[in-house]
Amino acid sequence: MLKDKIRPKEKSFPKARAGAPLRLGVIIPTFKEAPNVLPLLAKLETALSGVTWQAIFVDDDSPDGTASVVKAVAATDPRVICLHRIGRRGLAGAVIEGAMASAAPYVAVIDGDMQHDEALLPKMLALLEADEADLVVGSRYLGGEGSDASALGARREAGSRLANWLGNRVLKAHVTDPMSGFFMIRRELVEAVAPTLATAGFKVLFDILSSQKTPPRYVELPYEFKARLHGDSKLDNGVVVQYLGLLLARFSGDLISPRFIMFGLVGASGVIVHLAILRSLLEMGFSAAQTTAALGAMTWNFALNNAITYRDKRKRGFAFLVAYAKFALLCSVPLAANVAVATLVYEGGPSWWVAGVAGAVVAAVWNYVTTSRAVW
Ligand code: GDD
Ligand code: MN
Repeated sequence: MLKDKIRPKEKSFPKARAGAPLRLGVIIPTFKEAPNVLPLLAKLETALSGVTWQAIFVDDDSPDGTASVVKAVAATDPRVICLHRIGRRGLAGAVIEGAMASAAPYVAVIDGDMQHDEALLPKMLALLEADEADLVVGSRYLGGEGSDASALGARREAGSRLANWLGNRVLKAHVTDPMSGFFMIRRELVEAVAPTLATAGFKVLFDILSSQKTPPRYVELPYEFKARLHGDSKLDNGVVVQYLGLLLARFSGDLISPRFIMFGLVGASGVIVHLAILRSLLEMGFSAAQTTAALGAMTWNFALNNAITYRDKRKRGFAFLVAYAKFALLCSVPLAANVAVATLVYEGGPSWWVAGVAGAVVAAVWNYVTTSRAVW
């Protein structure tokens, strides 16, 4: 039968093992890191001599051709792999997919811009292989010699410390750098929690830590966070706000998704915009001012949700306009439901503001559920 000819006989594979078993998968998320690919690989090769390793670059279709640079190397070196993702953005999701693609027992995550210290990798691996830890984290804040986050810049450093402090409140543990993008972990631990991890944002280690059932045994090692040589940081204010959403979601015991929290926060800011516009235009008559305010708030909400809540699926150009039209259409539906629910609650009697909030919550849920399906 033809089928039998095509299918390799199970017993005949593998014919001979091609060398030592894989010990380490190095996951490198990249966005616009083309000039850094070759120097980073050279550094890895030096640091990991004597270890059977692979490098998995996870590139979100960088416009600078990072993926082609990786594939050019991969064409002659099977240790190097390029996961080339199309139509998606997000550091956390890239890290998770890279780790899931590896068959190595341990996976390391390291930035593609050489700001982390690859020379620490053998020590991390030794700790994991000796079963002294499930997770080893490179920390910028461990004091000690060399560990220093000043390459982040003063404002970023303060922000990063605050994020760490908040993070530790959720983790109920003391990790000096829970936002670190540099760590090594038993692959199984990532696989165990992968379905619950948030794919947006930068906080993958924090997320892995906060979603483990039993706290992993971790060790932190200090390293010096180096300055970037090529390209720019992709951590902007949107990433920071996204992190707040993730924290709140974890505080709620995961009852509420990070996206819904972001959507709610954006909606709350929209109420302020609405009131501000209404107040300043009152002279043109209430209903005209109210209509303008509603349109203004809707536009504000759409732009912010597109930039933050759905930044991994952000619409640009013509698609932005189409999405805006859909958003406006969907969000005008619950106006009626909002009023109906509010009136019902109001007549039942607790107080005017409970009624108002009840109406707003119903509208928010409707807007979230429908726009998440139809707009982004
Ligand atoms: N695939 C993919 N998709 N990669 C991304 C994306 C994305 O959307 N955004 C950023 N990256 C890659 C970058 O190319 C880089 O290799 C790495 O992720 C980190 O991004 P940077 O933009 O260099 O981050 P940073 O140096 O400002 O941030 C540092 O602090 C963060 C928070 O404490 C890093 O150490 C991060 O790892 C850390 O999470
Ligand atoms: Mn960086």
